[in-house]
Amino acid sequence: MHKAIVGTLAVLWSVASISANEMKEGEALFLKLCWGCHHPTAEAFGPSFQSIARKRSDSEIQGQIVRPDLLYKQLGYTRNAMPPFALSGEELQNITVYIKSFK
Ligand code: HEC
Repeated sequence: MHKAIVGTLAVLWSVASISANEMKEGEALFLKLCWGCHHPTAEAFGPSFQSIARKRSDSEIQGQIVRPDLLYKQLGYTRNAMPPFALSGEELQNITVYIKSFK
């Protein structure tokens, strides 16, 4: 019984530290690539990460990052002013975790 609880806590702890790492990496990507146009909670040249987190799925977010030229109409924009970013799968996951943290 006691062992089971300790085991569960260890699993929860490792899940928490993985997502803490994703958050940290996601924030670093934001500061490097996105902050010139996006603010976490305020509208800037692009919409805030908070408003994005509240209305978009992970795949909409990642699609817009990789191919904004294909996604912008589907997301309701009349023109595309965001450049594409060739991020790895891991980087896409990290930036998505970071964006979703503002929900
Ligand atoms: C040059 C300015 C610019 C940069 C840099 C930029 N964006 Fe954008 N972003 C925009 C604009 C403007 C839009 C509105 C749609 C469009 O223009 O395609 C947008 C839209 C988005 C959307 C969809 C918004 C919605 O309504 O759901 C996401 C997600 C997004 N950006 C994420 C990012 C991420 C993540 C980065 C960094 C990797 C980034 N953007 C970098 C300008 C920018």
